[in-house]
Amino acid sequence: MLSTQPETFDAGASREPLRIGPLVVDPPLLQAPMAGFSNHAYRQIVRRFGGAGLPTTEMVSARGFLEIDALGDTLPERLWGVREEPRPLAVQLWDNDPAILAAVGARLAHELNVSVVDINLGCPVKAVCQRAQSGSYLLRYPDRVGAIVESVVAACRPVPVTAKIRRGPGRQTINATDVAQAVEGAGGAAVTVHGRTADQGLRGTADWDQIARVKLHLKRMPLIGNGDVQTARAAVEALSRWGVDGVMIGRAGLARPWLFCQARAALAGEPIPADPTLDQQRQLLLNHYRRIVERFGPEKGTILMRRFACRYRQGQPGARLFRTKVARVSTPEEFIEIVEG
Ligand SMILES: Cc1cc2nc3c(=O)[nH]c(=O)nc-3n(C[C@H](O)[C@H](O)[C@H](O)COP(=O)(O)O)c2cc1C
Repeated sequence: MLSTQPETFDAGASREPLRIGPLVVDPPLLQAPMAGFSNHAYRQIVRRFGGAGLPTTEMVSARGFLEIDALGDTLPERLWGVREEPRPLAVQLWDNDPAILAAVGARLAHELNVSVVDINLGCPVKAVCQRAQSGSYLLRYPDRVGAIVESVVAACRPVPVTAKIRRGPGRQTINATDVAQAVEGAGGAAVTVHGRTADQGLRGTADWDQIARVKLHLKRMPLIGNGDVQTARAAVEALSRWGVDGVMIGRAGLARPWLFCQARAALAGEPIPADPTLDQQRQLLLNHYRRIVERFGPEKGTILMRRFACRYRQGQPGARLFRTKVARVSTPEEFIEIVEG
């Protein structure tokens, strides 16, 4: 996996910059929302490497926001760092009630001054989709999507509102185009399409043909493609071959937060910076760990870092043994020993 030789790619024809409402997203590389992962600590690391034109929070329950808000001047844990973090920053919300989403969107836009309010229309997790009839459940109802987006757009103006969707709710219902058109018709500023159906979860592969097809049916709204982009070359290809306006990267950026910086260089036709050395990667993981422990304390912080640590080692020699060990770690001493070992 480690590349030591600088590589360059032909980044293809020069592109229009990605504009999400008044915001220019440069480079057109977005860090995906990932519950349990894309928190303030992770976003700080991504920002330090550079290359992500728009970092995004984990998805935040709009109802949960209002419940916590009623208790005083606190924010949900998933909005850790949002007040002080540099901009641009997108916050993702989920719910199915236009008024609730609008109320929270307005707070984020006008009090917390976030750059983009994104609505989750792709989450397939039962608690969100089946029980709360939100996330990917809403893909079945483009009209309802339109009503939601319209209401959030009106509440957040001039802060842009975007939506993240999937190809469709299931293989029998591939309707990303209908949903994207509903988002556009309601004043949405961009749509991200993850090229899997909701019932696929993260199985199978993202269908970029279907993502690209959505673009043909949009009049003005940019299209961001998402799914399985793992290398700088793949990010360049997504833009040049599939004609999307932006590329969103999720899991590969957890294992390699420097990927955005490499993809940025590839897009600019510059030599791609080499991966950090293994020792630098260890230091990075320990630095990430310190940030998490500072926030959550040693006990919870260590448990939270188990899953991050596994991602960091993906694809490297000894990854399986490392995963087995780190999955059981419970104290800072053990954690540091395993990482340094
Ligand atoms: C652990 C995890 C958590 C995720 N949480 C969210 C989320 O909060 N909101 C969302 O829209 N998508 C979420 N996703 C989906 C990703 O944003 C992305 O669409 C998906 O991982 C495909 O992109 P990738 O192949 O680049 O990872 C999550 C994915 C993972 C792996």
